[in-house]
Amino acid sequence: MSDYVELFDLTKIYPTPKGPAVIVQDFNLRIKKGEFVALIGHSGCGKSTVLSMLAGLNDISGGGIILAGRELDGAGPDRGVVFQSPSLLPWLTAFENVMLGVDQVFFTASKIERRQIAEYYLTVVGLGNAIHKRPAELSQGMRQRVGIARAFALSPKMLLLDEPFGMLDALTRIELQQVLLEVWNRTKLTALMVTHDVDEAIFLSDRVVMMTNGPAAGVGDILPIPFPRPRDRAALLESAEYYRCREYLVTFLEERAHRRCQQAKAA
Ligand SMILES: Nc1ncnc2c1ncn2[C@@H]1O[C@H](COP(=O)(O)OP(=O)(O)O)[C@@H](O)[C@H]1O
Ligand SMILES: [Mg+2]
Repeated sequence: MSDYVELFDLTKIYPTPKGPAVIVQDFNLRIKKGEFVALIGHSGCGKSTVLSMLAGLNDISGGGIILAGRELDGAGPDRGVVFQSPSLLPWLTAFENVMLGVDQVFFTASKIERRQIAEYYLTVVGLGNAIHKRPAELSQGMRQRVGIARAFALSPKMLLLDEPFGMLDALTRIELQQVLLEVWNRTKLTALMVTHDVDEAIFLSDRVVMMTNGPAAGVGDILPIPFPRPRDRAALLESAEYYRCREYLVTFLEERAHRRCQQAKAA
């Protein structure tokens, strides 16, 4: 399959009182349609910076991004974003929060069709019984389920997730990983997800991109994840291959994050 997303020589330079700070430099990555890619790296290396440029929420200083054959210029509903906190409108129900975007994107569809889209995704994320509750009546995990439903309901070309489960407790986090995987299995949306959790990265993704430490961070290494889908967490945890993947990623984070591989530079 051909490349669907291409980040070429992507660079971000922030102006600071001490002069320009090169945070990300010549970040090169190609993603195929329907691929789920995880992005890991140390705190502050520039993961969110890369993601926010993809989302069109942060100006690009150099290089560029091509999505589905067109160079990106600004934000748009063709990219669904899920952040740590879903920022729902508190006076609207879960259903109404999802409908906000659905009404805008599918304005040519009938009212009934639009309602069905919102209901479908809210049901898939497990909120079938809570769609008419307001955010204050929902737990943090349930609110993030709404955030996931909202992003998928727009049928974007690409899904961007920035540590979406970062604020959840360990159990809820595992529950939500399962939910995300379930919706993703039905849609196979092209996805890039920032996480600092190597288990999460392995469980969810087709490839894990390891980012070097900043300044001037880039792609250090890429690990393909060999497990077939649908995946079963318990089975994964029993396979030796799982621990080899895990070891590879942890070793990168512990020892090699400062080095950039030749491959990444040459690409
Ligand atoms: N608006 C900004 N101005 C200057 N520096 C920034 C700005 N935003 C982020 N940075 C710096 O860029 C670096 C990368 O940040 P970020 O992309 O948020 O890292 P990560 O998501 O990997 O933790 C950090 O050192 C941060 O301080
Ligand atoms: Mg971040």
